Amino acid sequence: MKEKGASFPKSFVSSSTEDTIEFGKKFGFFINTLPTTKGARIVSLCGDLGAGKTTLTKGVALAFGIKKKITSPTFVLMKRFPTKTHYSTLVHIDAYRLSSFKDLHSLEIEKILNDSHSIILIEWIKNISSKKIKPFCVVTLKHKKDRTRLITTKIKK
Ligand SMILES: Nc1ncnc2c1ncn2[C@@H]1O[C@H](COP(=O)(O)OP(=O)(O)O)[C@@H](O)[C@H]1O
Ligand SMILES: [Mg+2]
Repeated sequence: MKEKGASFPKSFVSSSTEDTIEFGKKFGFFINTLPTTKGARIVSLCGDLGAGKTTLTKGVALAFGIKKKITSPTFVLMKRFPTKTHYSTLVHIDAYRLSSFKDLHSLEIEKILNDSHSIILIEWIKNISSKKIKPFCVVTLKHKKDRTRLITTKIKK
């Protein structure tokens, strides 16, 4: 599931839901070109409610060949999807209703964080801030007007 020379713009203006999904797909192909590291790879998705974090995750899931529908995990907190790439599990967490890292304990979070074959996308990471959750990349979505969103990505060294 790799795309030749997978690349994505660091800053992108999305004009529609489809644009954001397409961006997520490119971003997902990029993640798939990265080697696994010690522990899971974590992506922080920042932006207000309705900015498009879950929509972008849909695109990432497509790049991983996931056919299941991605919906907001707000009420279930976390969803796990098997993939066919070297990142064999994609985990989508929505921490909107959480208030600390401890709230994730019942979800086997330690096991997931230690799994170098997991890629974890987290919405509202600030609600569960912990030394154990270190994103390698922060994607920020800003709701401009109507359907316009400014998407910026920052890869941490
Ligand atoms: N350019 C755009 N990018 C992303 N979503 C958009 C865009 N324009 C309109 N939307 C709509 O805004 C909503 C974003 O919802 P969602 O992705 O669940 O946001 P979040 O997860 O950040 O709360 C969806 O209903 C989507 O169809
Ligand atoms: Mg969401």
